[in-house]
Amino acid sequence: MRQVFPELGVNIDHVATLRNSREGFEPDPLSAAVLVKKAGAAQLVCHLREDRRHIRDSDLRLLRAWNGLPVNLEMAMTDEMASIALDVRPALVTLVPERREERTTEGGLVLGRDMCGKIGEFVKKCRDNAIRLSLFLAPDTMDMNRAIDLGVDQVELHTGEYANASDPLKRKRELERLFSAAARISESSVRLAAGHGLDRENLLSVLAIDNLMEVNIGHSIIARSLYVGLEKAVSEILERIRRETPLMRREGILS
Ligand code: PXP
Repeated sequence: MRQVFPELGVNIDHVATLRNSREGFEPDPLSAAVLVKKAGAAQLVCHLREDRRHIRDSDLRLLRAWNGLPVNLEMAMTDEMASIALDVRPALVTLVPERREERTTEGGLVLGRDMCGKIGEFVKKCRDNAIRLSLFLAPDTMDMNRAIDLGVDQVELHTGEYANASDPLKRKRELERLFSAAARISESSVRLAAGHGLDRENLLSVLAIDNLMEVNIGHSIIARSLYVGLEKAVSEILERIRRETPLMRREGILS
């Protein structure tokens, strides 16, 4: 069936970060996940980092055991994470770069020869285990070509540079980069997602990307949930997506 609107993935890492700050049980990522589902999101996103500063292995396993929404597991391409992913079998794995000192994921994956080799092997293992594989990439045409050649299922465009640009000219340039990377992906069978730094306002221009199938949002939703509650914060974004996805796409004039 034709997908009319981009799906929404909600990143719940911040819920775990808040819980970890007191080493207790609240707030609980699983309870947050139940509300995210109730609000109508299509998937949960969480990043199991090497230092476990957000979700922990037990959170990931609980979310999978609950099985209420597909899990998009963000992780670095390390042997440890690969073996956890193949054991837990989330619906989707998104490979992201990871540096210990960063506050959040900065930049897309760097697709050097070594990394491409590792991804090439991991793609096959994911396929054998019914896990779809996504690469989190800066909107760069060369990287789109590499991702297509690697045979991954999805590319998630890093929207951070666009979202964080305060200079209107830079913002326009970054948006153009997103559109041209998306155009390259549309020539292949790779599914297109986007995420990082998106909120109710800057999401609007991104929704104009014709072949966008998924947006993943964390920080702005969790921040907004402090004022209006998590369910409402998620539904507000969903409503934006439904209302602001261009009419041409909604009416099937665009695929
Ligand atoms: N997509 C990916 C691959 C990410 O790493 C993140 C941040 O963890 C997000 C989306 C969500 O970004 P934000 O929290 O800025 O909405």
